[in-house]
Amino acid sequence: QFAQSLRGKRVVVTSGPTHEPIDPVRYIANRSSGRQGHAIATAAANAGAEVTLVSGPVTIDDPAGVRTIHIETAQEMLRAVKAALPADIFIAAAAVADWRVTTKNDNKIKKGDTAPVLQLAENPDILATIAGLSDGRPALVVGFAAETQDVTENALKKLAKKKCDVIVANDVGAGTDVMGGLENTVHIVTEAGVETWPKMEKSAVASRLVGLLSDMLERRQ
Ligand code: C5P
Repeated sequence: QFAQSLRGKRVVVTSGPTHEPIDPVRYIANRSSGRQGHAIATAAANAGAEVTLVSGPVTIDDPAGVRTIHIETAQEMLRAVKAALPADIFIAAAAVADWRVTTKNDNKIKKGDTAPVLQLAENPDILATIAGLSDGRPALVVGFAAETQDVTENALKKLAKKKCDVIVANDVGAGTDVMGGLENTVHIVTEAGVETWPKMEKSAVASRLVGLLSDMLERRQ
């Protein structure tokens, strides 16, 4: 019965990095591969949900059975997520760039005597925006926390600050090989406490997470 535990439910997932343009050929980005987010979209679709995946630029394939929307910047990601609502579950697995470049360059910046200075502005927090919606907030809002120290402590703070129902915290510190890797060790942080799952493949994390979320959703309805 697990296979159809999300039948009739709508799920929106963000995945991958965002690219923030500096000029037409250069951008700011990060090392997210999109593997964990895409695996979650796949697992939710396998559980019978109607899934929209909003993905930044990645090299992996669009998941089968999922409506995938491709965006580049954080601002585009927020717009696409809002357009994909309403949803029962929102899962923010993307590694959104915290800043965008505000010094707009329509042409490629030329090498010159002095190095260019980039001015940055903070990007919208997509997770906090969706979790804070007074109208049409998804029943379950799930965030990720990629930390290199005090993993669960920081995740608990993030849970409260961003008003999420679940934070999936992982240690991405040097040597963990999580960013871009195939495996993940996560801590599931909810109001009820912290549960550490053993190291497993991202696809296994995804199906176990989808199982947990369908249980939570059922208990709330
Ligand atoms: O604050 P921090 O970036 O560590 O939070 C990570 C969580 O917030 C992730 O779930 C990520 O997808 C989400 N996030 C977001 N928009 C941002 C920054 C982070 O949705 N601008």
